[in-house]
Amino acid sequence: MNKDLLSCLDLNTEDISTIFDLSASLKKGRGKGNQPRPLEGKSVGVIFAKSSTRTRVSFEVGITELGGHAVILDQGMTQMGRGESIPDTAHVLERYLSAIVIRTFKQSDVEGLAANAKIPVINALTDDFHPCQALTDIFTMYEYAGDLSKVKMAYIGDGASNMANSLMLASKLSGVTMTIASPEEYAPRKDIMDMNIGPGSASWTTSLKEAMDGADFVYTDVWVSMGFEKESAERMRILKPYQLNMDTLKMGKKDVKVLHCLPAHRGDEITDDVMDSPASIVFDQAENRLHVQKAIMSLLIK
Ligand code: CP
Ligand code: NVA
Repeated sequence: MNKDLLSCLDLNTEDISTIFDLSASLKKGRGKGNQPRPLEGKSVGVIFAKSSTRTRVSFEVGITELGGHAVILDQGMTQMGRGESIPDTAHVLERYLSAIVIRTFKQSDVEGLAANAKIPVINALTDDFHPCQALTDIFTMYEYAGDLSKVKMAYIGDGASNMANSLMLASKLSGVTMTIASPEEYAPRKDIMDMNIGPGSASWTTSLKEAMDGADFVYTDVWVSMGFEKESAERMRILKPYQLNMDTLKMGKKDVKVLHCLPAHRGDEITDDVMDSPASIVFDQAENRLHVQKAIMSLLIK
């Protein structure tokens, strides 16, 4: 496995199986005695330049459960917020910490930290990628479906979001067949769609019906990602036909399951009746962040 997890491109198909096996075993053992504590005596920095509920809590709880100590930092309150360089920050933090988890805007900042620090850097969301979430999502599908090579996932809405990017990579690596339905304005990144990196696939259509046809899972993300608030009105208007509502749900398989990275904007990208329906597995998915991130940290932090 690579030193860092900056995007799913740091992983191969075998790494993903290793992460999933450990996630399942940590999930099963949680709360029982004699759990592994690979972070005993270690501190992990968790830096946020954007809001968070799930990532903030699941990383802190996960680090504690692995025996470590989490140093949670608001990026704006560190000297990075006043212009201290990324390389200088990396050289300082590696003297104290065993790993850095960071949520920020620019992917290049996360890459810069990783290039300059000897310790692992884990991307907890940038404008471009959210690998911990995408791995969790595929793990959740694996729990429900078993054989990922038979899984068909429809992703509807903003095809150019950090989630769409990461899910395309994770699907390709894990064997999932992903079809994105989005308007032309928010079409998926062609460079990622064209990558040949594993047994799965990612394709794009503007037709909801086409993407939903035979779907075992349907996934959506917010229409206005963090940092894109200025584009709100335009995004809501253009993405409106791609809402995950009961009519959309009926286009999938009879037992289609609903995924959403959360937070959900109920009434926008997803309706209340879908969020609250028996098809929705979004809270199992949210719980799995904890187990999957514990597995990732156990494997990366030596
Ligand atoms: N899904 C996710 O990353 O949630 P938060 O923004 O609450 O961390
Ligand atoms: N695309 C969303 C994901 C939130 C977890 C955002 O970046 O805001």
